[in-house]
Amino acid sequence: MYNNRLDGLTEYPFQRLAALLAGIEPAVPTVNMGIGEPQHEPPALLLAALSKSAGDWGKYPPTAGTPVYRAAVTAWCTRRYELPANFLDPEKHVLPMAGTREGLFMAAQLCVPPRKNGQQPAVLMPNPFYQVYFGAAVMADAVPIFVPATKNLGFQPDYGAVSESELARTAMIYICTPANPQGTVANLARLKDIVRLARKHDFVVVSDECYSEIYADAPPPGMLQACAELGEGLKNVLVFNSLSKRSSVPGLRAGFVAGDEDLIAKFSKLRAHAGAVQPLPVMAAATALWNDEAHVELNRTLYRAKFDDAAAIFGNTHGFYRPAGGFFLWLDVGDGEAAAKELWRSAGVRVLPGRYLARPQANAENPGAPYIRVALVHDQSTTKDALVRMKQILEGMTP
Ligand SMILES: Cc1ncc(COP(=O)(O)O)c(C=O)c1O
Repeated sequence: MYNNRLDGLTEYPFQRLAALLAGIEPAVPTVNMGIGEPQHEPPALLLAALSKSAGDWGKYPPTAGTPVYRAAVTAWCTRRYELPANFLDPEKHVLPMAGTREGLFMAAQLCVPPRKNGQQPAVLMPNPFYQVYFGAAVMADAVPIFVPATKNLGFQPDYGAVSESELARTAMIYICTPANPQGTVANLARLKDIVRLARKHDFVVVSDECYSEIYADAPPPGMLQACAELGEGLKNVLVFNSLSKRSSVPGLRAGFVAGDEDLIAKFSKLRAHAGAVQPLPVMAAATALWNDEAHVELNRTLYRAKFDDAAAIFGNTHGFYRPAGGFFLWLDVGDGEAAAKELWRSAGVRVLPGRYLARPQANAENPGAPYIRVALVHDQSTTKDALVRMKQILEGMTP
């Protein structure tokens, strides 16, 4: 006996990659650029804050986190998005998350009703997309609708082009800005359009902004900012962010959700039953990190140097472009799976075929199939060395 919705889940991309590469023995030392796991040194203030609150490991943490943590998140959002004072209330609009992954998943449990306008509800997501969105929709018994975010669309989903009948059954949409995998940033006008659409059709916008602090030039706008400019508070909106990328601490499991007061209250109720709660020392360390920008600026500098190298190595080959945000290259190599195999075999570089991050559209084409995603998460010299080897191999593969 089990919940047979599980049968609707596809293998996670990294399992598919492991299967694809099984049995291949690289001839050279290997480097894993398949997973977006930041490898920069964690900031020194992390350890100091953790050890200072070491006496708190013996306490159960409160589901809603500490007031100090919620205040630090509120202050950070207010500074970062230039929100009006008191726009965000730490008691009403903010909850801590143990990273955002679980929260992004639980959002569907929270927002998808059994029926919407007499139909099975739909959850919209960009295509390609972070795979948790799909699993969340399937396990909430919603129909996932994949909205193309292809090159001709500037790698952004056009939710305004979704049909009225599909919008009528939509309970929730995911947006990811900067986007994983393409690094595209949605501008403020687009974000506002999405919020307007959500309020018109009464669905929830889940805005995944965990790459917001890794950017090339200008800080990407966020959904909180869009809401502040639109009026009507945070109605229909939930924003997720985390320290995993911003502060290079994916193992800390520290993030937050901020948004609609009513939804946050319901989220708190759900999390009391099923939420992974951050331990108090983790929350103390995370508070220190949200309060500090110096280490984040350094982090951005390290990524920019690696994108400089990538630009010099790839030039205008393989559709190379410098993404506005995030730390991935999204390279057009013709056949992403074939390239991933060859890059592993001959260059010892593990990359993720774009196919595993997307689903076939109505025309049966998988929009990720020609691509590979390359995570620039290692130090500069490791990354540069790997990119040079990749370029050589890819050149040899070009028909
Ligand atoms: C688009 C996107 N959203 C969310 C996450 C989850 O990150 P975390 O749970 O570490 O906050 C990731 C992690 O790779 C991601 O790429």
